[in-house]
Amino acid sequence: MESSRLLIEGGRRIEGELRIHGAKNSVLPILAATLLCGSTSVIHNSASLSDAFAAMRILRSLGCTISHEGSTVTVNSADAEGDIVSDGLMHEMRSSIVFLGAILGRVGRCRLSFPGGCELGPRPIDLHLEALRRLGVRITEDHGILDCTAGVRPQSADITLSLPSVGATENIMLYSALGSGETVIRNAAREPEIADLAGYLIKCGAKITGQGTSTLVIDGVPSLHGCEYTVMPDRIEAATYMGAAAITRGELMLGGVRPQDMYSCMSVFSEMGCGVYPYDDKIFISARKPITAVRTVRTMPYPGFPTDCQPIVMAVLSKSSGTSVIVENIFENRFMAAPELRRMGANIKAEGKVAVIEGVKKLYGAKARAYDLRAGAALVVAALGAEGQSEILNTHYIDRGYESIETALSSVGADIKRI
Ligand code: EPZ
Repeated sequence: MESSRLLIEGGRRIEGELRIHGAKNSVLPILAATLLCGSTSVIHNSASLSDAFAAMRILRSLGCTISHEGSTVTVNSADAEGDIVSDGLMHEMRSSIVFLGAILGRVGRCRLSFPGGCELGPRPIDLHLEALRRLGVRITEDHGILDCTAGVRPQSADITLSLPSVGATENIMLYSALGSGETVIRNAAREPEIADLAGYLIKCGAKITGQGTSTLVIDGVPSLHGCEYTVMPDRIEAATYMGAAAITRGELMLGGVRPQDMYSCMSVFSEMGCGVYPYDDKIFISARKPITAVRTVRTMPYPGFPTDCQPIVMAVLSKSSGTSVIVENIFENRFMAAPELRRMGANIKAEGKVAVIEGVKKLYGAKARAYDLRAGAALVVAALGAEGQSEILNTHYIDRGYESIETALSSVGADIKRI
């Protein structure tokens, strides 16, 4: 799909204030969770992102009525009896897999096509399926179609995830919230988005404890009701704009953030030589000094350094003094930004899960392609810090996770246009 392009004239300092939008990776599972209530929920701080719109299309296809005004989405799932997520919708957004637990919890049956792999690698869902089977769900896989039927639930299930999968944790929470029996999830994901999903479900009447820790306990309840809920801020959007300030030697005040979710990100920016000052719902970042290399950045499950910030930090470290090493421990193929950054003059050698970045003094504007959401954002950050004009193609990837990135960046001094 030939999507719009971004034209960026680099070299302008990023300076001013930005308000951060609601988290993409929180609003998606929360929208899925509205299916469980069978009544109306009002979700505030829902960013206008193509992934959020895709989730709303899925909800409508299942029988929900939805309206949205600015960043508030109203979902009435009283008549949501659907049990199929169409192939098209599944392939539009692979994280639609999080609807599986919610649809099964609501109607007891779900058919959807195996989520395709994506740019980041195969994206398996073995942990999701294994856990749901432990909860009595019968799952057959035939020609890429998953056919799931809820069976008798165990009175209590004790599930240990072999890795703290965000999606698997969310699917188990969504399936266990309604019904009977106690479900314990060990080695659960601890990401703040998990606690946000739990916050919404608890407000709907669910009984969940341990969110944010490695052990979650969900006691199924006979019914859930709709509620009014405000989505947490997007820590990855915040880190992206911190990267824009860092690479242009600028200063930025981010508002509407939760610094307590961002310690590992903030510490990497401090190590680069930025002044990072969190307080209340703000973070002030100042990059008056040249960026210095960071010896090693390792991506880890939360509270470690988030994989979603890795491409952004790769872009910033491309224009620094010294050699940095990035180790990507979460996804198999998440250095998609490297070849495009090299077109801008970056000196990056990526092999397997390790990328070595020899900082250069200058980056130069170039024509570059986004191949996935965060690699696309990394190209925008690099273009802001490059000399001359850059043209970023395939910006539909970027629009999945950033609400009008060009409006946000123009408001703090960037010369960026969408064509
Ligand atoms: C969520 O993806 C996020 N997406 C990702 O953000 C984020 O990078 C990721 O968590 C890690 O934080 C949403 O929340 C919509 P995982 P998810 O299950 O749930 C492997 C972005 O840019 N795995 O924690 O898919 C998997 O292949 C996106 O906003 C299995 O092997 O992440 C990956 O290597 C990108 N089997 C690792 O675990 C499974 O059954 C982490 O996956 C499940 C996962």
